[in-house]
Amino acid sequence: MDRLPRDFADLLTPLGRRVLDRGDPALARALARERLVYAEGLVDRRRAAAMRDLLERRLAAVLVPMARAIPPESIRNQTRDAVERLIKTVRVRTATFENPRAAATRAAARLGLLALLGSPALRRLAERLSGRALDPANGAQVLRYGPGDYSGPHTDHTPENARAAGGYLDVHLSLAGPGAGQTLVWDGGDGHMSRAVPVGTCGGLAIYRLPFWHYTTPLVRGPGGRPAAGAGTKPFRWVALATFFYAGSNRRVAER
Ligand SMILES: [Fe+2]
Repeated sequence: MDRLPRDFADLLTPLGRRVLDRGDPALARALARERLVYAEGLVDRRRAAAMRDLLERRLAAVLVPMARAIPPESIRNQTRDAVERLIKTVRVRTATFENPRAAATRAAARLGLLALLGSPALRRLAERLSGRALDPANGAQVLRYGPGDYSGPHTDHTPENARAAGGYLDVHLSLAGPGAGQTLVWDGGDGHMSRAVPVGTCGGLAIYRLPFWHYTTPLVRGPGGRPAAGAGTKPFRWVALATFFYAGSNRRVAER
């Protein structure tokens, strides 16, 4: 694969296409109940692996590091027991495609990644699963986790953005390399980090009804994971994601 399909429907399995056309009541119910659903079997694994390999060949070199470490003062300046606080800590490489002149944006456009993540089929799939009408313009981003990379607990709440203040939807396509192991953990709605799903798969789709507390564990060699011949020895995992505002969400907030 030298260029990605422009249409997200071209990545889907027959099951994924049926969900795109008619929806899936069980998945929609799961997402109404849960804040996050991780769906396997909708995206074709072989096509996802080809996409991952293309990103690895042509986009990895132009990503930028996103890193925020644990501040030493968080312990040093603590004066009372059991009142510690931690900001969002993270280490990953990323591209947000906000700057049209950035090398990553130009490379992603050439590969067809921006067209794919902005494709009407991806929005329609997200609408089918969430049961909500979504704004046609969406955000796009990629992440690449290398060994030990992670995202610490955070909410993704953006109360300063009127479109997103009342909630929004993220769809993350997991593109794990051979032998990569990583787990997504989140607040199951009971106020505890009580949900977890292994996301070291290639072709899994995570649908998030944000905001809520969640984190991604450090990338490790997965259980029994062994790199494929010639694929290098270090595990890695890409995430290609689209962010959707709910249709009309600006009006509701603006009228308050
Ligand atoms: Fe997040």
